[in-house]
Amino acid sequence: MSLTDLISIEDLTADEVRLVLDTAEQLKPIAERRRKSVPTLRGKVVCNLFLEDSTRTRISFDVAAKRLSAEVISFSAKGSSVSKGESFKDTALTLDAMGVDCVVIRSHSSGAPLQLSRYLDVPILNAGDGWHQHPTQALLDVFTMREHLGDLAGRRVVIVGDVLHSRVARSEVQALVLLGAEVVLVAPPTLLPPAVERWGARVAPNLAEVLPGADVVYLLRVQRERMHRAFFPTTREYSRRWGVDAARLALLPEHALVMHPGPMNRGVEITGDVADSSRSVITEQVTNGIAVRMAVLYLLLASRSPEEVDA
Ligand code: NCD
Repeated sequence: MSLTDLISIEDLTADEVRLVLDTAEQLKPIAERRRKSVPTLRGKVVCNLFLEDSTRTRISFDVAAKRLSAEVISFSAKGSSVSKGESFKDTALTLDAMGVDCVVIRSHSSGAPLQLSRYLDVPILNAGDGWHQHPTQALLDVFTMREHLGDLAGRRVVIVGDVLHSRVARSEVQALVLLGAEVVLVAPPTLLPPAVERWGARVAPNLAEVLPGADVVYLLRVQRERMHRAFFPTTREYSRRWGVDAARLALLPEHALVMHPGPMNRGVEITGDVADSSRSVITEQVTNGIAVRMAVLYLLLASRSPEEVDA
């Protein structure tokens, strides 16, 4: 891979996305072995810098790095001022001085990973920045879709909900468009970003119209923590118009998948029975997240110094 950082799906070519997916496919079986690790990144130090809440992404990166035998140091700065100006730079310089080989960063500020990449000379991996990007989420999602559906060219993926506040949606649409999928967005008009028509996706007014032709329905979490005004009348109204329940599930073709990045608001964007149904691949997404993050860590750390990696 020609990249030195993974900050945005925009920086990837279709071939690079395929390379990540193919590498993840090779690495996935490691999890099924009795000994769940390989020595590939032994001696490397990966720093998990989580400046915003996270459960699955933080643990997923942790497990991924450990399966490759890297050392992991975790740094969460909840409540501190590390995300602000000079002190963010100081954090970066401190990490540099400690000799870390890679930084995985999650931040509530869009652009923090890019900023960090200017301070540090080691690979920076974006684990979600503000409303901007969440590239490994998109990669694990397309990996999961590809496992079930094969080549995604011409497949139709319906993304539903809070597109405006969603870094997942931004990354997801870019990855799907790169792989030739058709993307349809369905959302309350107040939760669609301006200039969404430039994303390369189609906007459809209602779910009932698009579900019968969907290969995947991808539900976004209603991002309450990012809503500082009313974007829809009530939660009930939201669920009635944009949520997926058993009746809507029945509109999907037999083979279609239900996906969600987590954490879910059961009863809001998805009902419990849909989340737990046989169509849902939500827990597979979590499992695949580890293989995809292993692939990205491997490709980023190996591309910088291939001779140091004993694969
Ligand atoms: C997503 C995130 O944090 O952007 N979750 C995740 O990484 N698993 C989606 C969300 O919070 O809605």
